[in-house]
Amino acid sequence: MHEAAFYAVEGIDGSGKSGMVAGIVAHLERTGRPTIATREPGGTPQGEKLRALLLAGTDDAWDQQSELLMMTAARVEHVQRVILPALARGTSVVSDRYVGSTIAYQGAGRGMPEDYIRRLHRDAVGDVWPDLVLILDLDPEIGLARSKKRLSADAIDEGRFETLDLDFHHRIRRSYLDQAARDPERHAIVDALGTPEEVRARVIAAIDAWHAH
Ligand code: TMP
Repeated sequence: MHEAAFYAVEGIDGSGKSGMVAGIVAHLERTGRPTIATREPGGTPQGEKLRALLLAGTDDAWDQQSELLMMTAARVEHVQRVILPALARGTSVVSDRYVGSTIAYQGAGRGMPEDYIRRLHRDAVGDVWPDLVLILDLDPEIGLARSKKRLSADAIDEGRFETLDLDFHHRIRRSYLDQAARDPERHAIVDALGTPEEVRARVIAAIDAWHAH
């Protein structure tokens, strides 16, 4: 029996995270680990409503404090109602984004102090951190172009963060690399340039290496 683990997949917009989650779940299940896929903001009915509010419209739709609190409120619901119950029954969890996104987007992106974000996380969400964070690393110029193309092709109104300039997205990328450098045991950086099959093979190799350590 493997112990259930909590995996988060992180990366800039357009880094291909969402497509990787299904591959990760399939791999974990193949290796004898019952697993669920989930996402943030979202993952619960109330969290999905907050997602729709947070991701639609223009950048000025929310004050940055409201944005941070709503991201955190969605996470409280997600942790209490989905993540902790799954882990308690022995099911692993793969979340498309988690608090690393808040540190990157609201912290490095918007300029809110990281210690405030971490304190809010500990006080509101609890001391719940992923066992492994997989960071899909990609040049923001490529990611942003991909992401905008997908949003317009599928007519999805979730492009609020894509309206922000390239500099914002460079700060996001640097924040992820910095988070990994400060806590290497818990992070794996995966090069997200390549075909989905190539990237999936790298992600799976990183997971297997982490399980083996
Ligand atoms: P995605 O699910 O398509 O990646 O889009 C979610 C967007 O929300 C993405 O631009 C990153 C942003 N976001 C934050 O700014 N802070 C957060 O805490 C989370 C979870 C997401």
